[in-house]
Amino acid sequence: MQDYSAFKDLLRFLARLYVAEGRPGGDEAAAALRSALADFPGELPEPYNYMPGMAEAALALDPHPEAGIVAAALPQIRWFHVVDSMASIGTEMGSRMLVCELIGPTGMIRRESARVGLFVQCPNLEYATRKHGAEETYIILGGEAYWSKGGSEPVLKKAGDVVFHPSYMPHTNRTADKPTIATWRWSGDIRYEAYACTG
Ligand SMILES: [Fe+2]
Repeated sequence: MQDYSAFKDLLRFLARLYVAEGRPGGDEAAAALRSALADFPGELPEPYNYMPGMAEAALALDPHPEAGIVAAALPQIRWFHVVDSMASIGTEMGSRMLVCELIGPTGMIRRESARVGLFVQCPNLEYATRKHGAEETYIILGGEAYWSKGGSEPVLKKAGDVVFHPSYMPHTNRTADKPTIATWRWSGDIRYEAYACTG
């Protein structure tokens, strides 16, 4: 029987972060995380990582005070090829980021009401403008990136910073010479079909 205590600690930590966000969507994400903990599966999907070391590297740069909880769970994460779910992102850009869905309709643990995951972006990558039906919150866990929404001037975001995107608000972000790692949540219209990367 696999020991999932590090993974469970990660879900508990993320629930605390999203309660602290102070938005109804954050409360919904936290409730979905707690429900996954209460009804935890006997087995999780096999871990998968096509960019070994990248998440760890991002997490080691100016990390969140509780980054150790995330680091402990990284070996159990099943990252997915983002282009498979969001084709408009394109293979080239999509292959330079790691996305996982911890809980959600297609997550490591199935939940229908929200998606919560982790996100890693390689250095020197412009993640082009995109929008989606879901409202979205990123909470930065390590590294740094410049974030812009609704055409605003890019702002440098580091560990502990919260980046909120209302439904269908166009947003973009880019890394310079450092990667970044964040947790993300989608609430509301969480269909991947309602995502478009428009460049
Ligand atoms: Fe987004």
